[in-house]
Amino acid sequence: MSIELNDFDSSRAVASDRKHVWHHITQHKPYEQNDPMVIVEGQGMRVRDAKGNEYLDAVSGGVWTVNVGYGREKIADAVREQLVKMNYFAQSAGNIPAALFAEKLIEKMPGLSRVYYSNSGSEANEKAFKIVRQISQKKYGGKKYKILFRERDYHGTTITALSATGQFERKNQYGPFTPGFVEFPHCCEYRSQFGEVRDYGERAALEMEKVILTEGPDTIGAVCLEPITAGGGVITPPVGYWEKIQEICKKYDILLHIDEVVCGLGRTGTWFGYQHYGIKPDIVTMAKGVASGYAAISCTVTTEEVFEAFKDDPSDRMGYFRDISTFGGCTAGPAAALANMEIIEEEGLLENAAQMGEYLLGRLRQLQDKYQVIGDVRGKGLFCGLELVQDRETREPVEESLPIAIAADCMKQGVIIGRTNRSFEKFNNTLCLSPALIATQDDIDQIVDALDNAFARLAPNA
Ligand SMILES: Cc1ncc(COP(=O)(O)O)c(C=O)c1O
Repeated sequence: MSIELNDFDSSRAVASDRKHVWHHITQHKPYEQNDPMVIVEGQGMRVRDAKGNEYLDAVSGGVWTVNVGYGREKIADAVREQLVKMNYFAQSAGNIPAALFAEKLIEKMPGLSRVYYSNSGSEANEKAFKIVRQISQKKYGGKKYKILFRERDYHGTTITALSATGQFERKNQYGPFTPGFVEFPHCCEYRSQFGEVRDYGERAALEMEKVILTEGPDTIGAVCLEPITAGGGVITPPVGYWEKIQEICKKYDILLHIDEVVCGLGRTGTWFGYQHYGIKPDIVTMAKGVASGYAAISCTVTTEEVFEAFKDDPSDRMGYFRDISTFGGCTAGPAAALANMEIIEEEGLLENAAQMGEYLLGRLRQLQDKYQVIGDVRGKGLFCGLELVQDRETREPVEESLPIAIAADCMKQGVIIGRTNRSFEKFNNTLCLSPALIATQDDIDQIVDALDNAFARLAPNA
């Protein structure tokens, strides 16, 4: 990285962090002995920490977020210009960047027409759940209030978003949960629950129908699904899965809510993950890549039909969407999102994600040929996972200590990779890669070479 460290006392920042900051998803005991990592600079694909170590970031800010890479002056300038002109007014009124971004976003999402702004992926999903619950009251006498979700999917950190999450360890100790959320089985073919079946995709989708029939179709308002499961182990859907899911939703008048918090804004090589599979969603939520982390913004996007349900009877005092989020849509978020989307277009980053994604997948498959421990390689675009097993025949997952050690080894080599993080009782065994959409072949080679070295040291073939 050619940039200089900022002129501030980074060792003081590390000490202050150690003393006062409570990090996300982190056991702090080790910080009694060691310093936490404090990231101080970023440029392109690379970040630097307070101690001057430089890393190639293969997970876009740790959690698949910084889609256009670090140091984007265009976005920073757009945000600054907007803030000095008009920083904030509640979203009960409109503002210019929110209007312009909504228009641009809707151009990319045929069939959808309304954008509701908030601040995080969890919040965007909460809005969707509230929309479904209110439609149930308005149209079905409160009966169609249940929301289905899938085992291994993650939909957020708040109690209700966790209630809709199919990850046992993620949820553990945070209950009781919101009633009315019902789980159905996952669709990971490598972990087939039905033995070897020919039409696995259709078979897995029928598991959803079984749950619908058990619960009663007239009690189910919506199903909430990731197009490709992210934190649950980068699970790409099997052939035929989405066609069947869509058909079942239609059959029982169930709204289809797609959670694009990870896949949205180019991660998989199309604007949205669902666009690979011909899905026609009723509600789509998005966050992380919307402004690539330059500002906090999330969106809940709906069809005109869903929106109509909230304005068809103005005489009903309770009939409109009575939801508010102080910071949602005002104004740095949409200003950043507009510039972010322009960068993706101007630099052809969808095409790059598709091409480099193929290259990455190919190189990971070569690694799989080399190391027995890599049981499965999955992915789409710049979004890949490697599932690690003790034995290729039995597919017994490795203990979570191995992916932790491999990630630590890569870190020592200057490459930050991701992994399933204490989400399941047994399957915390997937390494995750999601480099920025600007990744070059050289960047990908550096990532895969680091993995190769780590496997050679920690999981050589017996
Ligand atoms: C698929 C998915 N949905 C929702 C969320 C929650 O987003 P946030 O952390 O912005 O609340 C995440 C976060 O990782 C996610 O992966």
